[in-house]
Amino acid sequence: MPTVELESRSADETEAIAARLAPGLRPGDVVLVSGELGAGKTTFVRGACRALGITGRVTSPTFTIGHRYGGRVDVSHLDLYRFRGLSPAEWGDLEPYFQDAIVFVEWPEAGIHALPEPRARIRLVHLSGDVRLVSVDSDDRALLEEAGGAGPGLRHGD
Ligand SMILES: Nc1ncnc2c1ncn2[C@@H]1O[C@H](COP(=O)(O)OP(=O)(O)OP(=O)(O)O)[C@@H](O)[C@H]1O
Ligand SMILES: [Mg+2]
Repeated sequence: MPTVELESRSADETEAIAARLAPGLRPGDVVLVSGELGAGKTTFVRGACRALGITGRVTSPTFTIGHRYGGRVDVSHLDLYRFRGLSPAEWGDLEPYFQDAIVFVEWPEAGIHALPEPRARIRLVHLSGDVRLVSVDSDDRALLEEAGGAGPGLRHGD
């Protein structure tokens, strides 16, 4: 799958990368956001939400399965950290989040067989200190161009 790799040197830069990707997303799109604890998954989702007109708190839905925010479009924010797989009942709880919303999924590994085909996959890796490698995978080259475009984040290749 085509990939763009960017180096982020701060939480603000990670938010800015997400903000470049976000305008190319539409309700129904699913974006998987993976990476170890504290890598910046929620920070990435927050940046996308801000770009989509969501002004309220955007925090990890660690003690609930998800949040749904209203902006210029609705955005759902799921976190599957506590799951090892998704039972039909659990999937039933999740399904409403996918209706008429752009959906970001942190810790998507547990849902990998149940989740719809994603529009993009984001991977965040700690490099050193505040530096993160942000990889964006998508079959949609126009979306990748937007994410990798001018602004914070050094373009690494594709
Ligand atoms: N380049 C960077 N990109 C993103 N976050 C950064 C960066 N540098 C430092 N940080 C800090 O790292 C932390 C990332 O926290 P965040 O909640 O976004 O991670 P997470 O991957 O969602 O964690 P969790 O697995 O617990 O959900 C924040 O405190 C943020 O300010
Ligand atoms: Mg998080």
